[in-house]
Amino acid sequence: MVGSKSGENRGDSKASARARHDFLDKGYYRCLKTAMAERLHGTVLDICCGEGYYDVPSPETVDELLGFDLSKEMVRLAAKRGRAATTGGTSPCTFFVGNLASIPVAESSVDVAMHLFAPFHEKEFLRVLKPDGVLYSVIPGEDHLFELKEVIYDTPYKNDEQAPETEALRLVSRTKVSETVRVPKEDLQTLFSMTPYFYRTSPEDRGKLDSVDGLDLTVEFVILEYRP
Ligand SMILES: C[S@@+](CC[C@H](N)C(=O)[O-])C[C@H]1O[C@@H](n2cnc3c(N)ncnc32)[C@H](O)[C@@H]1O
Repeated sequence: MVGSKSGENRGDSKASARARHDFLDKGYYRCLKTAMAERLHGTVLDICCGEGYYDVPSPETVDELLGFDLSKEMVRLAAKRGRAATTGGTSPCTFFVGNLASIPVAESSVDVAMHLFAPFHEKEFLRVLKPDGVLYSVIPGEDHLFELKEVIYDTPYKNDEQAPETEALRLVSRTKVSETVRVPKEDLQTLFSMTPYFYRTSPEDRGKLDSVDGLDLTVEFVILEYRP
């Protein structure tokens, strides 16, 4: 089920895959993991699965979980997690390299598609979903990491919570999940490197994070429910 010629150098890099893996393992985004786990049933597809942090399917509700990503390193880490989780009693998990522009999964085969912090592709999402399937797409909430932005920027802005526009799928609900987590100094730069604004921020501004001991941070997510 390898959907691209080589995922070695595509998608997120090896270093960022490892950084994301180590950061998520510390549980800062646990509230989102719990909220997603409650929504999974039947055949689940994790689109752009990254290193598989959210892929802990309960055998009571989920028959199997498939996950794919463009980055070979992400898929390697997800498969490792999947093996450990299956040994611990989850449903079977299969991970593979693939491109969301041509998802290597049969049409009308997915009950629940999960799609977290990744590009949107309405045509492919619609193709793989069963007629009564559901897509959960997650975007950052308006207050997500606001306290971190306050350290870095003179005039920090809030996220716009704009749902991806689609004519093929109906947006039927929005659910907000949030909590406050204490992130120590040593994890702040890793966290910032995972954000989309990292590359738009000067090294001087990034360095401001080194002047704080740690931060109580709001982590806030919007779970968008789409149906065919
Ligand atoms: C911000 S990460 C989110 C990963 C994961 N969903 C999570 O929340 O931990 C975005 C992911 O999308 C993947 N990606 C980007 N473009 C892709 C594409 N065209 N096809 C498949 N995966 C892609 C990247 O490799 C990366 O792992």
